[in-house]
Amino acid sequence: MKENKKIIYLDYSATTPLDKDVFNEMQPYFYEFYGNPSSVSGFSLEAKMAIDKARGKVAKAINCKREEVFFTSGGTESDNWALIGTAISRKQKGNHIITSSIEHPAVLNTCKYLEKLGFKITYVPVDKYGIVNLEYIKKSITEKTILVSIMFANNEIGSIQPIEDIGKICRDKNITFHTDAVQAIGHIPVDVEALKIDMLSMSAHKFYGPKGIGALYIKKSVKIDSYLHGGEQERGRRSGTENTAGIVGLGTAIEKSNLDMYNENVRLINLRDKFIQEVLKIENTSLNGDISNRLPGNVNICFNGIDAETLLMALDLQGICASVGSACSAGSLEPSRVLVALGLSEEKAKSSMRFSFGKGTTDEDIDYTIRILKDIIGNIRNN
Ligand SMILES: Cc1ncc(COP(=O)(O)O)c(C=O)c1O
Repeated sequence: MKENKKIIYLDYSATTPLDKDVFNEMQPYFYEFYGNPSSVSGFSLEAKMAIDKARGKVAKAINCKREEVFFTSGGTESDNWALIGTAISRKQKGNHIITSSIEHPAVLNTCKYLEKLGFKITYVPVDKYGIVNLEYIKKSITEKTILVSIMFANNEIGSIQPIEDIGKICRDKNITFHTDAVQAIGHIPVDVEALKIDMLSMSAHKFYGPKGIGALYIKKSVKIDSYLHGGEQERGRRSGTENTAGIVGLGTAIEKSNLDMYNENVRLINLRDKFIQEVLKIENTSLNGDISNRLPGNVNICFNGIDAETLLMALDLQGICASVGSACSAGSLEPSRVLVALGLSEEKAKSSMRFSFGKGTTDEDIDYTIRILKDIIGNIRNN
């Protein structure tokens, strides 16, 4: 690609750029207040206080208590902790876990690992819009069910699950309910109390915070073992020297995203719907997932008969950065598991592409991308 060519970044679901204010807040904790927050010296107090402050911001953003927030290295660790920690701590009660067929690999591969250890996993199917079947969840519950883990919003098609209904089903049966909210936090309102969520995973790099930092919310009454063992950090439940700057970044990013959320979502939904409307004018295209029940910045389109990898490269040459499947499955020759779970044929799944919009996406970016898409697809189909 030519130098200085403007990049149109339409891959915000994969990761977001660090917000400048977040960066400014983080900086002092690299070189000025670098003390170990767990040390007793007065010098470390600044770092310790900054972590406490960030914990308060996370708690406020999702409506939980500060002591229910545990910092981790990101979404993957939070998901692993939620699933493995619950499985180990509750194995006397039972060995059955319920999840969905469209979870992120951080949940699905952890379930595969637990299967090897003797746990039984039920994978709940989804409808053609990517929404889990509540009746299936209800009828899958047995006396041995110890955990239900259903993602808040899907990373490929943006479908938003009926979290409150699932929370209610689990609360009534005294089953722990975990949700992977990595794609939801910072983008749509989340209230763990109102939605009856017992555990929730989040990751800062999805909402303009730094990479390599996340959190797991664990409701006080929930029984869960530690996942990382070592020192007494995070009240003895998640060992390892705290990533002070990262934690400060997460706190600032979640606070800022929540403040901007309403206006930004109105803007994004306008861009998204305009994009969908225009792209669907191209012959033989269809929208994957639901038109309305989806994340404000997510679009996933099937360009029938077109190899999405080829299209991705052609767009890349024009400076447009989108994605096929999710970043975590990029490079795999398999069709997207999520799209196949919606009922798409392998061929259609391999002709589908995700565009995800965020703070830097402008009206002009959308117009340009629509124009380029029309040109490229016209060329491919005419040759
Ligand atoms: C739904 C979902 N869960 C978990 C993860 C993993 O998060 P992290 O990159 O912080 O490990 C991702 C990242 O793409 C995701 O989209």
